[in-house]
Amino acid sequence: MRNFILGIVVTVLVLLLGGLGLALLGFLPTRANSTPPATEVHLAMSALDNSVERHAPRVNNPVPPTDENLIEGLKIYTMNCALCHGGIDRLPSTLEKSFYPPPPNLILHPPDDPEWHVYYLIRNGVRYTGMPAWDKTLSDPDLWKVTAFLARVEKLPPAVQDYWKKSSGVTPPTGGEEEHHDHK
Ligand code: HEC
Repeated sequence: MRNFILGIVVTVLVLLLGGLGLALLGFLPTRANSTPPATEVHLAMSALDNSVERHAPRVNNPVPPTDENLIEGLKIYTMNCALCHGGIDRLPSTLEKSFYPPPPNLILHPPDDPEWHVYYLIRNGVRYTGMPAWDKTLSDPDLWKVTAFLARVEKLPPAVQDYWKKSSGVTPPTGGEEEHHDHK
């Protein structure tokens, strides 16, 4: 029994040191311009989802979803997020294929998680990806405004849809046209 446990410990150590050695010898791929394999995406997305579920406080959005706040959210989105996540012109984003993992298009596939979940992701960013933490850049009300906007991309009130149309020349999505973004 003792030898068996020793065997396991030694194996784990060899694997750890071997992995470290390979990394230091330059065998790990570091390019951001390639597509992650499906298994990796699946595992990483489940791990991320579960981590947010475990860590994020279940709070309600303190900012009411008035026309004014949603338009503010749209503007905050356009200024800070569209470059990576796609603009209200509903075209692919400039940097869509430039990250590992790639940023999802949040206009074509808006998040369907609860607002506290999305707020947590935006506020704290996603480690080991190109998703920045916005807590140092955006005020807390602004974080909630952009969250409120993302939660309603496909069901915005008429005044906000009008603003969207006027500023992009494109009709806002109303759902049903495309499949929702499933995070798993
Ligand atoms: C520099 C590029 C970049 C910018 C700018 C950026 N993001 Fe991201 N974002 C990413 C990447 C890359 C991911 C994918 C992370 C992953 O796969 O886990 C991501 C993930 C997300 C997610 C999680 C999506 C999901 O599928 O669960 C949300 C929500 C999000 N970003 C919102 C925003 C908001 C809101 C802004 C603007 C305030 C923003 N991002 C700005 C790169 C960016």
